[in-house]
Amino acid sequence: MDLSYESSRIQSLILEEIDLTGIPADRLAAFHARLDAHFPALFAHMLELYGGRYDAYLHIRQLVANLARFQRHMDPAKQEGRETRWYQSQDQLGMAVYIDLFAGDLRGLIDRIPYLERLGVTYLHLMPLYLAPEGENDGGYAVSDYRQVNPALGSNADLKALSEALHARGIRMVMDFVFNHTSQEHRWAEAARDGDPRFRQFYYLLDEAEAQDYNQTLREIFPQVRRGSFTWNEACGKWVWTTFNSYQWDLNYANPDVFVSVADEMLHLVAMGADVLRLDALAFVWKEKGTVCESLPKAHTVIQAFNLCLRIAAPHVVFKSEAIVHPDEVNRYIGLEECELSYNPLMMALMWESLATRQTELLNASLAKSFAIPDGTAWVNYIRCHDDIGWMWDDSISEGLGTNGYDHRLFLNQFYTGRFDGSFACGVPFQENPSTGDCRVCGTLASLAGVEQALASGNALHLEHAFARIRLLHAIVLSAPGLPLLYQGDDLGVLNDHSYLSDPGKREDSRWVHRKALTDADFTAAGDLATPQGRIAADLAELIALRKAHAVFGPSSFRLVDLDNPHLFAFLRTGGEERLLVVANFSEHVLPLALDIPALIGGTGEVRDLLGGVASPLDLRALTLDSYAVHWFHCRK
Ligand code: GLC
Ligand code: GLC
Repeated sequence: MDLSYESSRIQSLILEEIDLTGIPADRLAAFHARLDAHFPALFAHMLELYGGRYDAYLHIRQLVANLARFQRHMDPAKQEGRETRWYQSQDQLGMAVYIDLFAGDLRGLIDRIPYLERLGVTYLHLMPLYLAPEGENDGGYAVSDYRQVNPALGSNADLKALSEALHARGIRMVMDFVFNHTSQEHRWAEAARDGDPRFRQFYYLLDEAEAQDYNQTLREIFPQVRRGSFTWNEACGKWVWTTFNSYQWDLNYANPDVFVSVADEMLHLVAMGADVLRLDALAFVWKEKGTVCESLPKAHTVIQAFNLCLRIAAPHVVFKSEAIVHPDEVNRYIGLEECELSYNPLMMALMWESLATRQTELLNASLAKSFAIPDGTAWVNYIRCHDDIGWMWDDSISEGLGTNGYDHRLFLNQFYTGRFDGSFACGVPFQENPSTGDCRVCGTLASLAGVEQALASGNALHLEHAFARIRLLHAIVLSAPGLPLLYQGDDLGVLNDHSYLSDPGKREDSRWVHRKALTDADFTAAGDLATPQGRIAADLAELIALRKAHAVFGPSSFRLVDLDNPHLFAFLRTGGEERLLVVANFSEHVLPLALDIPALIGGTGEVRDLLGGVASPLDLRALTLDSYAVHWFHCRK
């Protein structure tokens, strides 16, 4: 339906009614231009979500008033930026840190910036730092106040100081937009418990029968802590929708007041200095009876509407999607109008799958289907993050390869939790579902890749294999198109840490096994080449430096290359004056191959292995791949 007349009429009406005083003239003019460009789409999205409500106009007007008011705080130097597609550049390198575990507090983190700079980090994801309940708070993902820094980490002024210090060194600040739920201690939840009619509509407070009804079709996310998706609340006399933990209350986006209020909290994160917002648990934000309540069409409408708010109020900010769901669904969140960035959970999980099986066919076939994303967007490629590894892929692909998806997941869980004979991994199960036996896997990169086990057994060959696996994984995330994201501690080669078991606020959640409080000793060990940590850190530093030195790692084309060998993963990137062929052996088998590397690259310049493994031109035509070898064959023209 063409709404252009209605939209322009509503826009003028709103502009007459709201207060635009106090906004400097140049910023106001820029705001008007952006509103003209994006209000029609925002209006259409709001009508799709809330058009049936008698008070829709009032909420849309409030939303625009908030976007306008925010212009008083907007740094004019920041009004541009997303068009540069900075996130596709080869100089980008991401890292995710828990402020307390990485550096004690916000001030401590400022002191660690030189380390981040040396490593080459340009994109720093600060794990949730907001006020949260004492004790259990899901690592900060239960937010009690988006506008207040958790006092254990510092003050709002410290956060401001950190954001200025990061920006001064060209590091972008990434913050979590935890918009699917608040903690039960958020003022909205407290008001709901006190019976305030406005805030009771902010959440899903349901009768027994209604909750049962929904439960029929929902997936259980944390089945080990609580069955079903609802928690009884005595004060409300209702079942509260709690997809994750019982203290995380899902927000009700069917209510426009929620959308408008949350958009205002989002702008506050931008005011604190966020350049990227990580959309936490975004698949769950829209609910409809009789469905799985995940990745529904209107979840996309909600996210696109938030993105339009940013285009109007803070156009430099981009979204990163945290959709850890079926690959087809993951890709649906990616787009210039929705999330410019997205975690790449498929490649992450299938690299681990390939290491376990020594076979790359599932990785190759899955990426062939799902790796392509719209122009201008980018994957955030990672090996480990603060969460568990879930074995999510398209089962029709594994079936096509003769593998039953369910059985294969069981095998991977056994393998990575060390219950499979011959496994190199020391992982820990997460959220074993008592009804299905399904689980996910936790552990640090070094422990999962075999370092922990090799050190315990003292087997030098196994230790070399473990180092080689880590190097291979790093070499892939650093050379695949997109932004590579490291997880704190993995850069230092830290092992699993079981101390969470003695903390009552953490012991139920095995993800803490890979959330270690880093000590000076960890940093010192990583600086010493004679230690395993030092070896891992040095390999990583070499790869990062090479990535940053060659434009082909930036926005260039990508094509999977079939080398007709079940253990290999290879791809070709071409852009500008350069060509890069990445070849990785996911097995410990030494593979003599009759491959003509220069012919495969197809360039005219001299071919070199940037990683130094293959030196002579002769070897390039009769390549022998070592255990877990990875090569970056490069040529100009
Ligand atoms: C996201 C976070 C995870 C958290 C969940 C609930 O998936 O990554 O750590 O448990 O959301 O907020
Ligand atoms: C589920 C969710 C995902 C989240 C994870 C936390 O898999 O789909 O968003 O990261 O739980 O463990």
